[in-house]
Amino acid sequence: MTATILRGDSTRITSLIEDIAAISETAAPSGVTRLAYTPMEREAHAVFAGWMVDLGLSVRTDVVGNTVAERPGRSGGRAIGTGSHLDSVPCGGRFDGIAGVVAAAEVARMVVEQDLDHDHPLRFVVFAGEEGARFGQACIGSKAAGGLWTPQSLVEVRDSDGVSLAEAMQALGFDPAEVEHATWRRDEWAGFIELHVEQGEVLEAQGTSIGIVDLISGSTRFELTVVGRSSHTGSTPMSLRADALCAAAELVLLCEEIAKDPRHRATRCTVGRLEVSPGSITTIPGEVRLAVDVRDVDSSRQRETANDVVSRARDICLRRGIELTARLLSDASPVVLPVWLRDITSAVCKELALTYRVMYSGASHDSQMVGHVVPAGMIFVPSRAGLSHVPEEWSSASDIALGVEVLARSLFSLDAQLTRLGR
Ligand code: GLV
Ligand code: MN
Ligand code: MN
Repeated sequence: MTATILRGDSTRITSLIEDIAAISETAAPSGVTRLAYTPMEREAHAVFAGWMVDLGLSVRTDVVGNTVAERPGRSGGRAIGTGSHLDSVPCGGRFDGIAGVVAAAEVARMVVEQDLDHDHPLRFVVFAGEEGARFGQACIGSKAAGGLWTPQSLVEVRDSDGVSLAEAMQALGFDPAEVEHATWRRDEWAGFIELHVEQGEVLEAQGTSIGIVDLISGSTRFELTVVGRSSHTGSTPMSLRADALCAAAELVLLCEEIAKDPRHRATRCTVGRLEVSPGSITTIPGEVRLAVDVRDVDSSRQRETANDVVSRARDICLRRGIELTARLLSDASPVVLPVWLRDITSAVCKELALTYRVMYSGASHDSQMVGHVVPAGMIFVPSRAGLSHVPEEWSSASDIALGVEVLARSLFSLDAQLTRLGR
């Protein structure tokens, strides 16, 4: 059966990626903007659903907007899934998430066109709202699949316009009060493997074709609000100022300094958004809001770093006579992916004589969340120059096509292995 599994088709991969990239609020050179829980994201899900329907697969959308297509297996039982997400960051690239969805579509096409047999049902999934850019909270749909939301928590998370996640869901016809119905049942799912672009430069720099992920970083995100005193930039002497932006500048450098401490080898700490108020060239900034993202593969170091940033930020603000408040936006732990599932993909790479390496992911992924309820694995394909979340993000269609073959073979190997084990 595996003899019929081929590489993905590079021409079709390019065309499917272009179909999705065309659904965007921005165009080149500003990249792709298709934010979580917007009509544009839904349009992209509908395009995917159309591909699946054209292949004759059944498609459903769950209560939070995850789209799931299914091809029944010979003997029923628990499903094996693959997929990723179709939303983007503002002015982002066309591959983050999309490569994994297109790979899933290619596997679906291969399976249907060649009428390949598999025992377990195969599911092709697009998660809603993976990017944390809008709500500060990543992996919204997959967190629901992982059973990690309550209806109340969806009301508490808000975007920068004050729209709650629950309201954004309702506006698109979903039912946040029923979020628990989106949880994947352990007796319904046997495994999930996601293909994703690496978003770093390890594979390209080493000339390695495939990354197999062992560990996905966690993130702690919070907002710091720094309140000083606004006044006239000409008439206020330097000695009498409480400039919120000067304090914020120190906080930005503090984040860099803490994460660059050699004891924090894999810690990344970033201030990615700064809102300065009133934002006038002739007024001393009175208030600044900073969005801080702390990522780590070590869960205690992740939380210690976040606490350290807040406590040292307090000292800085105290010294400057400035008020500081901190508000937690989200907190997700690092996740270790199961070794036996990684072994399946490394065996496939060996069989195909491909170069591969086991590596951790610095970015968050849907597999991190569904990994709470189903064994999850991840396959990385190279990213050009390691760039991601920017318009220049790029992975070649031939690298993705190779990833499709590794993905398809891994899914079929998993199917066979589970059958052998009677699961
Ligand atoms: C998801 O792309 C993330 O921010 O890690
Ligand atoms: Mn992604
Ligand atoms: Mn992303």
